[in-house]
Amino acid sequence: MRFNSILASLEAYVPGEQPRDGNYVKLNTNESPYPPAPEVVDAIKDCACQDSLNKYPDPLSLALRKAIAERFGFSPENVLVGNGSDEVLRLVCHALLERGDCISMLYPTYVLYRTLAAMFGAGCVEIDVEPPSFDIPKTAFTQRSQILFLANPNPPIGTLYPVEMIEELAKCQRERLVVVDEAYVDFSNTTCIELVRRYPNVAVTRTFSKCFALAGLRVGFIVGDRLLIEQLEKLKDSYNVNRISQAAALAAWQATDYYSGIAKRICATRDYLTTELRRRGFDVAQSAGNFLFARCSNAEQLYLRLKERKILVRYFKMRRLEDGLRITIGTPDDVSILLAALDELQKEP
Ligand SMILES: Cc1ncc(COP(=O)(O)O)c(C=O)c1O
Repeated sequence: MRFNSILASLEAYVPGEQPRDGNYVKLNTNESPYPPAPEVVDAIKDCACQDSLNKYPDPLSLALRKAIAERFGFSPENVLVGNGSDEVLRLVCHALLERGDCISMLYPTYVLYRTLAAMFGAGCVEIDVEPPSFDIPKTAFTQRSQILFLANPNPPIGTLYPVEMIEELAKCQRERLVVVDEAYVDFSNTTCIELVRRYPNVAVTRTFSKCFALAGLRVGFIVGDRLLIEQLEKLKDSYNVNRISQAAALAAWQATDYYSGIAKRICATRDYLTTELRRRGFDVAQSAGNFLFARCSNAEQLYLRLKERKILVRYFKMRRLEDGLRITIGTPDDVSILLAALDELQKEP
């Protein structure tokens, strides 16, 4: 048996823990602490009762694609739906990268981009962003690469970059695709969708895993130039999004009032938690996502002590992230439990 030579040096991406036992206050993978809209649950039930699960789903996810396109004033040919936005990001790498190419990304960020590029034999240039502003450095404008991945807001810090700055990034290298990953857009209200209309080298990805509370169903999408979407279609699995996920995502997409209420609640809890952590001596940058990054002197120790108390946050043993914890914004009750645990731990020797 001979494996693809890329695999020998490929480091797998390690996702956040998904504990088997459900007794954790789970603040480690940026899921929604609230359930999906009631209409979504109804749509799932209807779909399961329709006596159609024996049939393959729509390979093009057309109803969902149309609804997404319509909201943004695009045509369905500008949209591709995937099995989570991770699949869509992988398809983009597959479509654009050759061995020896490279992608660029800000650092720190969602490091899956680096792994996806490596799968296709491409390298990754990390462009460091520095506190306190985390501004995009000049090298991001001049650095040559096939794709620039830019999460906006950018985890794990949660920095939000202005659309005008991203437009400059698109303008300065027209042959480079700028992928704006808007996984957390609902908590920031800033979108680059308009840039897609004006720049064929800008694409926006979104997910139903965060604000829409459907991480368990795996649905994401990309909005981009028709030519790009056409290439991605050639590469995707025929039936990449299952029937139940398509129905649930469509219902979620239409339940706008419910989800804007949820987003507001999460942002209010985020701002409260930011203040409370700062009061306790943590260094917390302003986040525009449903998470925040809290720097402290004993981050790894604290992560382990919280885990003993069944509170799960994310600790990254990675360059420039070892001195902090990424904490997903939970319900106000989750936040009270976390703060009480931190207060108790602070008293311990
Ligand atoms: C910036 C970013 N993009 C994409 C994803 C993955 O989204 P999905 O669940 O749709 O694959 C995540 C998940 O944490 C993320 O943080």
